[in-house]
Amino acid sequence: MTGFTPPGGMPVDLRSDTVTKPVPAMYEAMMNASIGDDVLGDDPTTIELQERVSALLGKEAALFTPSGTMANQIALKVHTRPGDAVICEEGCHILNYEGGAPAAVSGVILRTIPGNHGMITAEQVRDKMTPQDSHFPRISLVEIENTHNRAGGAIFPQSEVLAIRDLCNEQGMMLHLDGARIWNAHIATGIPLDELAAPADTVIVCLSKGLGCPVGSVLAGTKDHMKYAHRIRKYLGGGMRQVGILAGAGLFALENHIERLAEDHERARLLYKAFTEFPGVFPIEPDTSILIVEFDKLMYDPELIRQALERRSVRCLAISPTRIRLVTHLDISWEQAVYAGDMIRDVLGGMSETASD
Ligand SMILES: Cc1ncc(COP(=O)(O)O)c(C=O)c1O
Repeated sequence: MTGFTPPGGMPVDLRSDTVTKPVPAMYEAMMNASIGDDVLGDDPTTIELQERVSALLGKEAALFTPSGTMANQIALKVHTRPGDAVICEEGCHILNYEGGAPAAVSGVILRTIPGNHGMITAEQVRDKMTPQDSHFPRISLVEIENTHNRAGGAIFPQSEVLAIRDLCNEQGMMLHLDGARIWNAHIATGIPLDELAAPADTVIVCLSKGLGCPVGSVLAGTKDHMKYAHRIRKYLGGGMRQVGILAGAGLFALENHIERLAEDHERARLLYKAFTEFPGVFPIEPDTSILIVEFDKLMYDPELIRQALERRSVRCLAISPTRIRLVTHLDISWEQAVYAGDMIRDVLGGMSETASD
């Protein structure tokens, strides 16, 4: 559409932090990565990445995977047997956005808890437990997500993670942490990564979201768990050959793209403020880089808001009949965030005037 020119002339793409493209220095790191056949165990860059991530997370070993979905599903398979139950929060990624994989891959039941902004408590987990005789599914695993995607990048209180860990110890359950965006929790809270990961038996992290890599996630845990995980990755078809090209991007991102996440958080707050100025609009104050905005459905249609923003070269997602989602990331500059804020005011200003007429 003419008349709206974002800084840099390109659309401001706030649909997801997965839309980033490698920066030139990342491409260079990828080109210069030493490579070998990782399925045969001789890709030095992948080995280095796995060692680096396991050290950062304080785990014995780690495994590179093509996606966060595969890393999560390998973890579920490692910890469960068909017919088992996994306790998790109802809005979690493994249930809502992984194509039904817990049933298809592991044959498990998910016993869900309604969370408070994605957060569940040890007490809620205890209430969800069933007697462990043969009438009931064996509850082998609790799964939590930090930060929580659908809850708007919300950070899990570490004290509650520790309480859930204690319960897992008491009840003989494992704990898996979907830490696709654990980096954001680390930067927002200042809690070291290994401390955030410590209560979990296994943890996944993604390199292809806020860290700006084109592909890749890592699963970390004990050596024994990773040995079994390696087999599962193989039969799911996730063994990759000269994958050092991607691991090189990962190593670059760990070095250069973690600290800067603070900028994404700041930009998400800037967008949040733009939404606070209008009646019937309820943005959820973001802990990190994901902004969820709830609308009074008698006043606004999120899909129309998305379209109006799109016409102004600001891209977001309408994620439900009452909500839109905007995510800041490496490819969103301060100037682009300011432009998006102005466009949000422009769109909502026009609509709220119409609404009050
Ligand atoms: C919390 C969370 N876990 C896992 C994933 C899966 O990652 P991937 O898209 O790489 O499969 C995502 C993706 O957005 C996510 O938000």
